[in-house]
Amino acid sequence: MTARYQEHGDIAVITLDNPPVNGLGHATRAGIVEGIDKALANAGITAIVLIGAGQRFSGGADIREFNTPGALQEPSLHTVIRHLEAATKPVVAAIEGLAMGGGLELALGCHYRIAKSGAQIALPEVKLGILPGAGGTQRLPRTVGLERALDMIVSGAGVVADKLADTQLFDRIIDGDLLQHALSLARDIAAQRPLPLVRALRVEHPEADSFLQAARQRVSATSTHYPAPVRCIAALEAAVHKDFDEGLAIERDLFLELVETPESKALRHAFFAERAAGKIPDVRADTPLRAVRSVAVIGAGTMGAGIAMNFANAGLPVTMLETTQPALDKGLATIRRNYEGTLKKGRLTAAQLEQRMALIAGTLSYDAIGSADIVIEAVFEDIAVKEAVFRQLDAVMKPGAILASNTSTLDLDRIAAFTKRPQDVIGMHFFSPANVMKLLEIVRGKHTATDVLATVMALAKTIRKTGVVSGVCDGFIGNRMIEQYLRQAFFLLEEGCLPAQVDKAIEQFGFAMGPFRMSDLAGNDIGWYIRKRRYVEKPDLLYSKIGDKLCEQGRFGQKTSAGWYDYRAGDRQAYPSDEVNDMIVACSTGLGIQRRQVGDQEIVERLLFALVNEGAQILDEGIALRASDIDIVYLSGYGFPPFRGGPMFYADTLGLPRVLDAIRRYASAQPPGVWKVSALLEQLVSQGKRFDSHQ
Ligand SMILES: NC(=O)c1ccc[n+]([C@@H]2O[C@H](COP(=O)([O-])OP(=O)(O)OC[C@H]3O[C@@H](n4cnc5c(N)ncnc54)[C@H](O)[C@@H]3O)[C@@H](O)[C@H]2O)c1
Repeated sequence: MTARYQEHGDIAVITLDNPPVNGLGHATRAGIVEGIDKALANAGITAIVLIGAGQRFSGGADIREFNTPGALQEPSLHTVIRHLEAATKPVVAAIEGLAMGGGLELALGCHYRIAKSGAQIALPEVKLGILPGAGGTQRLPRTVGLERALDMIVSGAGVVADKLADTQLFDRIIDGDLLQHALSLARDIAAQRPLPLVRALRVEHPEADSFLQAARQRVSATSTHYPAPVRCIAALEAAVHKDFDEGLAIERDLFLELVETPESKALRHAFFAERAAGKIPDVRADTPLRAVRSVAVIGAGTMGAGIAMNFANAGLPVTMLETTQPALDKGLATIRRNYEGTLKKGRLTAAQLEQRMALIAGTLSYDAIGSADIVIEAVFEDIAVKEAVFRQLDAVMKPGAILASNTSTLDLDRIAAFTKRPQDVIGMHFFSPANVMKLLEIVRGKHTATDVLATVMALAKTIRKTGVVSGVCDGFIGNRMIEQYLRQAFFLLEEGCLPAQVDKAIEQFGFAMGPFRMSDLAGNDIGWYIRKRRYVEKPDLLYSKIGDKLCEQGRFGQKTSAGWYDYRAGDRQAYPSDEVNDMIVACSTGLGIQRRQVGDQEIVERLLFALVNEGAQILDEGIALRASDIDIVYLSGYGFPPFRGGPMFYADTLGLPRVLDAIRRYASAQPPGVWKVSALLEQLVSQGKRFDSHQ
């Protein structure tokens, strides 16, 4: 039973018991109604307590039920809430841990609410591009007031119950045993009539209209690509001006409208994609994990320092190993400086800073790291250096330790072969800045043991990263695709675009940053270094030489105050550069190319479809387990617009035939060999399938 019924003397207790978050699936909803009916039918019962098992009330809808018939099966949450409101005996919602989404809406349908201090209260629906659809937009403002309800509903952010102590949301906020307090409240109010209903309250605000108008303006300006926040305000407006049932009907209409928007579909796709990314078909969910209680990091440079911070933030002790004392000191100083930055922003206390620093030790000796449970190598991207490090690690690390490499481009299987324990070797590809970026590509080598993979996936969660599994290939999922995107960006310059035009077009599509601003930030020399290797390894792969010319002039990007754009001291803004633009035009002339006006649609399509085409190839080769994993890589690591759902989802939305047609068109207009049309894409189109149906 996912909703249990018990009697405590004259009080009935209905316990939501549907781990992990007491999601309101069909069985739970039906169980609540049954419990209420039973309590009403028993003359010995005077009041009812609704509580959650496992120290939490309810996280809302049961996500396992999404897109299944169970989600629509009666009793719906609306029906359950109507049932609670109509109950002739008082119902007390007893909240601890969390009451989110439908969970909070359920509680708002009860006559009384008691919360344990610290409980998290939220209506996070807006994050999925929808709004609370079971009365939340009508009942919350009636209890916490218009302004606070608007903040909560429009942002989706959680609020600690204690902060709402001065509102009508909770009748009591307590410390100690919640059930005992709830039973005591139930006995206190058992005889009170009439039963209080949130729907009977009014939303009081002296200047509701001007407040709503200002909020609408603010929200429209900040969420241009997202329709839900403005609709949330419309629903709240109904709560102010309409009677309750009319308001509910308006909320319902807005909810149904939002569910159908492409933005909500994209956000919901991303939500499920993130959960799917954690599932690896041949790794059982109950795989025993290796214990990770201590960490070593080799190299205290840009990446090593950031990687170490992740573990210290999670409370795990880290030892960083360097070759020289100055390099080690520099790494430790970088870490302290980063924490001081967080302290200045008020997101860390001085005591926390010292606690974290105390978790990070430095060493120049391998003897100091042999007992670590996992070691992550982040030394220079040079196979000879990696070889020396991994041979050392093989010699000193205890049996069973996980040996991870943060390599971006080198062959993990080759690295594993430097040890006598390739089963313990895995890639952990962090993104820069490693203490900030959410994405972690987890690279599964040919011999990586399943428990090593499962342990590192779990570790990703511990350090609050989004782990996505990738097979071994040059660039893994993300960088391999971005290389194709950048190739197209460079060709566009040769054909007639300037950097600012390309960046603007793709930023208007929704990307956080266009390719040229992004390259200036990351350092143009990194791509240059990789291309120089490509010219030797893959001489038939066509590249525009425009990026090389830029680097030959020392324009490496922000770090040299000059890249595709000019930069001024103390200012990160990109200013178009006449010098670069002249160089681009001269480059076209030198190649005998007649520059033309390229439309924004062509820019966006060529960049995006280059991603999609390479993504399809990656899928075909089994480097990514599923198309949605590729979307997660792009959403969490490359600034892909969340409301588009990721490159593969976006391609599915457009329709793969349209994508393939466009790629063929561009391929025939560009020199042969620039595009290599993915066989999987062609196959899916011929079968009338989509990426999301390909596993
Ligand atoms: N910078 C990025 O954006 C980025 C992103 C993802 C992955 N990576 C990868 O991370 C690794 C490190 O890159 P980085 O940018 O931090 O480089 P970096 O040059 O900033 O740091 C490398 C550090 O390793 C140290 N080192 C070199 N040889 C060593 C050895 N034998 N033993 C111990 N320490 C040694 C150096 O002293 C230096 O401090 C590379 O494999 C790189 O491809 C970099």
